[in-house]
Amino acid sequence: MELTFDQLIEKCKKCSKCRLRSTATQVVPGDGNPKADIMFIGEGPGKNEDIEGVPFCGAAGKFLDELLASIDVKREDVFITNMVRCRPPGNRDPEDDEIQACREWTNAFIKIITPKVFVLLGRFAMAKFFPKLKISQVHGNAYRKWNRLFVIMYHPAVALYNGSFRDTLTNDMTILREILDGDESRVENLDDEKNEIKDMLEKKREEKKGEKSQLGLNL
Ligand code: URA
Repeated sequence: MELTFDQLIEKCKKCSKCRLRSTATQVVPGDGNPKADIMFIGEGPGKNEDIEGVPFCGAAGKFLDELLASIDVKREDVFITNMVRCRPPGNRDPEDDEIQACREWTNAFIKIITPKVFVLLGRFAMAKFFPKLKISQVHGNAYRKWNRLFVIMYHPAVALYNGSFRDTLTNDMTILREILDGDESRVENLDDEKNEIKDMLEKKREEKKGEKSQLGLNL
């Protein structure tokens, strides 16, 4: 039986599938509108998020709120989550296996909310959908893929360490306003047949690699 949104949140809160849970205060599933058209995906909870149980409620979150206000979007109208939902100790980067362990929740939130637009905050969220892209080259770009729209942004925390990124992020955010206003002239379409075939072949290659490594053949 499919879970409701509230049931999903409650189940996620009880997760202890990876090592991050043992050092975190609590699981931070996500926050916002279960019927949102826009889903923001960050990296993982920081110190404040770990204490409050709410994503992006610390300094990076304050800047995210400013970015939302700059394009006249209300936080309560979007849904915000992370690639990992327990704070990595000392705010280190999440490890691959931790992201994999949390993937079930990321996918479940996507399935239940079915957003039209994803805003990928930082390289970890970007890598889920576009593993080959480099954020320094594609931040501020928007793509249509699998009939969904993806906006790629630097993580708001970068602006806390280097103030010059504030303008970059504010400027990059304007493409989301355009999309919401129905202007997709800057959106690049990656949904064509050629790309789908390429993706399919790539997936098959990856699956084959997986099968071989499971057999102990590191080819
Ligand atoms: N950084 C993130 O990636 N997520 C949060 O929730 C807070 C800071």
